[in-house]
Amino acid sequence: MNIQWYPGHMTKARRQMEADLKQVSLVIELADARIPLGSRNPDIDRMAAGKDRLILLNKADMADPAENDAWVKWYAARNIRAVLCDARNPRDVKAIRRAVTEVSAERMERNRRKGILNRPVRAMVCGIPNVGKSTLINSVAGRSAAKTGNKPGVTRSNQWIRLDRTLELLDTPGILWPKFEDPEVSVRLALLGSISDQVVDSGELALELLKFMTREYPALLAGWRKSTDEEDGGDEMPELMAGDYAENAPYLRIMEREARARGCLRGGGNVDYDRIAAVMLNDFRAAKMGRITLEKATV
Ligand code: G4P
Repeated sequence: MNIQWYPGHMTKARRQMEADLKQVSLVIELADARIPLGSRNPDIDRMAAGKDRLILLNKADMADPAENDAWVKWYAARNIRAVLCDARNPRDVKAIRRAVTEVSAERMERNRRKGILNRPVRAMVCGIPNVGKSTLINSVAGRSAAKTGNKPGVTRSNQWIRLDRTLELLDTPGILWPKFEDPEVSVRLALLGSISDQVVDSGELALELLKFMTREYPALLAGWRKSTDEEDGGDEMPELMAGDYAENAPYLRIMEREARARGCLRGGGNVDYDRIAAVMLNDFRAAKMGRITLEKATV
């Protein structure tokens, strides 16, 4: 599956972020715990060189718990502090505050030795669209300090949220885009909804999801399904897939059975592949198939 996409405002958002970075000593980078590497932009390592760093594996509540632990260890082995979190959860926000203190401790101590006292840590939150940046800022600030939703390119004037004597947070998050070059990463991002659905064929994407679930999470797939393979599905085939028929046939049949079991039909009782694809993608994105991680920590 090949996804070509170049969102607008990319350059502008990056420039804004480069300017904002000059004002902070700590960069809190959000990644999606379901794609802990692919949801990051590697430019950040260059852009944030010399800053204290903290990576939050956000939406960990929707990711595979075993993989969550494996990813924290994966980052620790590379001397990077990564913390699992659900940006909406106050308890997790407390853990983030503790991690912020830890990663900033050395800098604070250096400042103290230089006689610089009471200088708060200034931090900014960054990450790809929809990863939870605004939610985190709101949760940390304990009020509706930053609007959720994603508006790259809007003119902004920076404001600082003073959390206490030791920490100030820039109220506007830095927006970065993931790299789309690797087709496998693009598919994973599309599965999460991080790539506009308008440029992705939902039928093909649902098929990719089904292949992944069959390979990696067969028990969760079985739990989600409302049909079984014994049922008689017929032999309908969407035209789009005809060329890849041999490889895709078993998965198309599952889609067809699910469509029938869930009433995703057109007139005449024909399967509505667009509708069943939408159901599958929505259920996956809402973690209704279970807690799933698309990228394994073995890489
Ligand atoms: P952004 O600023 O990075 O673009 O992301 P934003 O905070 O707008 O969050 C995008 C969506 O992800 C929101 O859902 C938000 O509630 C959800 N979200 C953020 N963090 C977490 C998390 O740790 N776990 C889970 N499960 N969801 C999270 P939405 O449906 O777009 O909006 P809303 O209906 O929640 O307001």
